Amino acid sequence: MARNRGDKEEGPEKLMGLLKLVQILSLLVIFVAGVILGLATSSHINHYFTSQAQLFLTNNIASAKLSDNNCTVVKPREKVDFLNMERFVHPDNVIHSMTDDQVFWRASLLPQKKGYPFDRVPKVAFMFLTRGPLPLLPLWERFFRGHDQYFSIYVHNPHDYVLNVSSDSPFYGRMIPSKDVEWGSVSLVDAEKRLLANALLDFSNERFVLLSESCIPIYNFPTVYKYLIRSEYSFVESYDEPSRYGRGRYSRKMLPDIHLYQWRKGSQWFEIQRDLAVYIVSDTKYYTIFKKYCRPACYPDEHFIPTYLNMFHGSLNSNRSVTWVDWSIGGPHPATYSGGNITEDFIQSIRNNGTQCSYNSEMTSVCYLFARKFAPSALVPLLSLTSTVMEF
Ligand SMILES: *[C@@H]1O[C@H](CO)[C@@H](O)[C@H](O)[C@H]1NC(C)=O
Ligand SMILES: *[C@@H]1O[C@H](CO)[C@@H](O)[C@H](O)[C@H]1NC(C)=O
Ligand SMILES: *[C@@H]1O[C@H](CO)[C@@H](O)[C@H](O)[C@H]1NC(C)=O
Ligand SMILES: *[C@@H]1O[C@H](CO)[C@@H](O)[C@H](O)[C@H]1NC(C)=O
Ligand SMILES: *[C@@H]1O[C@H](CO)[C@@H](O)[C@H](O)[C@H]1NC(C)=O
Repeated sequence: MARNRGDKEEGPEKLMGLLKLVQILSLLVIFVAGVILGLATSSHINHYFTSQAQLFLTNNIASAKLSDNNCTVVKPREKVDFLNMERFVHPDNVIHSMTDDQVFWRASLLPQKKGYPFDRVPKVAFMFLTRGPLPLLPLWERFFRGHDQYFSIYVHNPHDYVLNVSSDSPFYGRMIPSKDVEWGSVSLVDAEKRLLANALLDFSNERFVLLSESCIPIYNFPTVYKYLIRSEYSFVESYDEPSRYGRGRYSRKMLPDIHLYQWRKGSQWFEIQRDLAVYIVSDTKYYTIFKKYCRPACYPDEHFIPTYLNMFHGSLNSNRSVTWVDWSIGGPHPATYSGGNITEDFIQSIRNNGTQCSYNSEMTSVCYLFARKFAPSALVPLLSLTSTVMEF
């Protein structure tokens, strides 16, 4: 009985034990699964952090290596002066790919701030408007020698002409991007504006003189430099010429913008200060009127700048030219002097023939600094006079 009972009693106890075992086992399974899952996840995360850390460390190591063990985390970037001040204010080369409109626009920028944030030695821009060769080049080279700091040269050639000068000449590499010029047409004014605009890109250029291949200097460089830099006025010939060669070239189609009483005539060979150069390259309105209505027998190069300055900036102009020329022979062209005409007395008479001219608020016997026109054969006799007469 007892066995039975025992059996009876044993039966349910055994069942309870089995159930407990199953419970424990399943808990164990869940626990192990959890541990495995947990381990897997954490190893993934670990791996992620490790790789990031590796990247970071690798970088550090690399930069530390690059900086010569100087404990610098990031290697300093090499300093490249992309917005170079020196090249902006003093372009060292005249070659560029800007169009006329682009270079006129750049040249028209006027600083609003007083003074210059660099050591500015004012320079004279000598702008040569040529038909090709420069036969009097050796005379000019002698004139410029030893004064590099005080001038810049710009040469406008027919566009396919290459000026061949030695690399130690001040004319070397000074040919600006040019276009062909038709004498007597508005393309001559274009060339003048092109020279002015290119010369304006150098912020040290203060005075701008237009010269041709047949012009010569009649004083030495220091005299010319002082005369121009110290002048309060520009030297643009500008006068009212009542004849058909003056007023006769005016067109009533220019009304209402330009009146006959404002119309002026003057030599193309000007000398102007920086402000006036900026105004001239900045103008489109009056240039367009001249282009449209000043056609032969009206010549824009003899009227545009003299009229424009008279209308707006007359008070800055002396109304006379510093380039001597001889019209006494009559006709449409001035006299050209060749080798046989060159004497000491002749050059002296251009330098001073007794006439006085106004300069700032005084009078002076120095009226002209340059002279034209001189043929290539004048070169040798002129070179023999430079030390005795022109003093250079
Ligand atoms: C460490 O940096 C300093 C300052 O930048 C520098 O003068 C020095 O030459 C550097 N040393 C090395 C070993 O690069
Ligand atoms: C330029 O001038 C040099 C020396 O005067 C001469 O040897 C050379 O042939 C010239 N070149 C051209 C393209 O005229
Ligand atoms: C030049 O002419 C202008 C008129 O265009 C006049 O205002 C100016 O005073 C003249 N200059 C001199 C120095 O006489
Ligand atoms: C230059 O000299 C030549 C020959 O001696 C002469 O015929 C000519 O008139 C002179 N020219 C001038 C502009 O004086
Ligand atoms: C001096 O030169 C000027 C300009 O060329 C001229 O008008 C004047 O008559 C000359 N004077 C003398 C005395 O030759």
